[in-house]
Amino acid sequence: MCGIVGYIGDQQASKIIIDGLKRLEYRGYDSAGLAVINGELKIKKGKGKVASLEKMITPSENGTVGIGHTRWATHGEPNDINSHPHTGQNGKLALVHNGIIENYNTLKKKLSDQGYTFYSETDTEVLTKLIESFLEKDASDLKKAVQLALHQVNGTYGIALVHSDFPDQIVVARKGSPLLLGVGEGEMLIASDASAVAAYTDKVIYLDDGEIAVIRKDDYTVESADQIELSKEIHELALSLEEIEKGGYDHFMLKEIFEQPKALSDCLRGRINAEEGTVTLGGIEGIMDQLVNARRIIIAACGTSWHSGLVGEYLFEYLAKVPVEVEYASEFRYKEQLIGEGDVMIVISQSGETADTLAALREAKSRGALVLGVVNVVGSTIARETDAGVYIHAGPEIGVASTKAFTAQVTVLTMMAIKLGLYKKTIDNKEAKKLIGELAQIPAKIEEILESTDEIKEISNLFSYAPNFLYLGRSYSFPVALEGALKLKEISYIHAEGYPAAEMKHGPIALIDEMMPVVVIAATQHTNDKMISNIEEVRARKGRIIAITNPGNEEVEDLAEFKSIVPETMDVLSPLLTVIPLQLLSYYIAVNRGCNVDQPRNLAKSVTVE
Ligand code: G6P
Repeated sequence: MCGIVGYIGDQQASKIIIDGLKRLEYRGYDSAGLAVINGELKIKKGKGKVASLEKMITPSENGTVGIGHTRWATHGEPNDINSHPHTGQNGKLALVHNGIIENYNTLKKKLSDQGYTFYSETDTEVLTKLIESFLEKDASDLKKAVQLALHQVNGTYGIALVHSDFPDQIVVARKGSPLLLGVGEGEMLIASDASAVAAYTDKVIYLDDGEIAVIRKDDYTVESADQIELSKEIHELALSLEEIEKGGYDHFMLKEIFEQPKALSDCLRGRINAEEGTVTLGGIEGIMDQLVNARRIIIAACGTSWHSGLVGEYLFEYLAKVPVEVEYASEFRYKEQLIGEGDVMIVISQSGETADTLAALREAKSRGALVLGVVNVVGSTIARETDAGVYIHAGPEIGVASTKAFTAQVTVLTMMAIKLGLYKKTIDNKEAKKLIGELAQIPAKIEEILESTDEIKEISNLFSYAPNFLYLGRSYSFPVALEGALKLKEISYIHAEGYPAAEMKHGPIALIDEMMPVVVIAATQHTNDKMISNIEEVRARKGRIIAITNPGNEEVEDLAEFKSIVPETMDVLSPLLTVIPLQLLSYYIAVNRGCNVDQPRNLAKSVTVE
């Protein structure tokens, strides 16, 4: 949610900021802006994408220190005025913000009483003027003014600010929204995530909540909330530029769909041994005893990660015979808190920054549960705050609709469930060898699906203008049905619902007629007969059946009007294959409809507000 970039050094700040904002655009893209110090403060901002901002830049914005922002609106509609940066009354201070200032109305009233006037509807302008008011009382120290202002603020923020009277510094602070410092040679950067600084440095410092930093071109200081100077660890980035570029694909989403064989191979590498039937997961080896003794596992996540959590529920219950509850992170927080010692929470998050997931993690941890993370972004807040965890190693995912993160999350959950099953002896070595052997073949099987996409393209062409879609699945295929429907909604804006196939009879069946495409995921052996009955029910109502099934499943093939065949695998591993045609289906439909696949309207990849 909102992306922040800043630069101080000897190069043109605006160029580096625009470049960084383009990489952060997945975080929000309804407006963009930057502030550069060129003797005085120069601001360019407006509704629209970073590319529009780039066109506004003139030599007037030359300068070697500046901050920029790409916005996902929380307070105030996306328009030129509400865009960041926001400025103080005297035009010297500019601030960009990611997060929400919850008490902004009270603060606004107090500031109005002091004579401040406001031009926008944003909480951010209020914070800017609050800082300015403290600076006016003690004009010697920008950082101090920020500290004093932040003491009065409730809510979350990642902020960066520049002031034309202090042209040698950028002040940044973080509480609840991610921020990192990029340490270069004679230059420093700040950003919401590492992709924006990777072209300039591979050394980063992750700020923690409550910290405030002042960066200058040759140095930086970081202080804790109680104003103690900290010596922060410098992390080395393992992020190549290639990974964050489109690499010849039309969209990041397509690139990421096609990257899945590699992403899953990277995820599995060094972790499974099919000959011995073992799984090694460095991040959780030390807590296996606690995991074995878990009373229950609670999985908390949002969006696509929640769907992989649902697959995880089937996996852990089947392989490790442990009860699992899957919670929307946002709902978990406001329920009666019965979690405690003896419980294990697994939080799943691609970005590692989702506000609700982070809050669920903190709640569970504070009540004594062991919290494990299944995270993609290395060094992200969730990865750092969990007790232990397993990275999915899928590489940067930039398309807003999650694809490779889903399959990599499911892969990690599968490995965890096998490992736990072996520890608990709920599966034996022979079964483990079989599962691991099959798991090792998944990347090649995905490759096979991706080699022949003609059928899916044809189906997409036929149904691109359908107003509704229904997705049905049973057992392991039920979460896949939800994920398929979500993918379609997100990027093509077609209304779609995922349902457990049998549950269809209790409502959605009323919607089925000859206009309704019904995607049936019929690729699990143990539910095949029941699934066939459900397909018959759809057929009897003239629904247009699109089946995702295995080779040789003649009954399903005969009933379906259209089909996409995925290679056979064990039922427990089937989501890793059946989801691929659904990702492609939504992608091709969205392209046919002329939608912006990588930046769908109203969405953001990293949701750092509650
Ligand atoms: C947003 C994204 C989704 C993602 C969800 C959870 O809604 O658009 O793709 O699944 O957040 O994000 P996380 O980073 O926690 O997996």
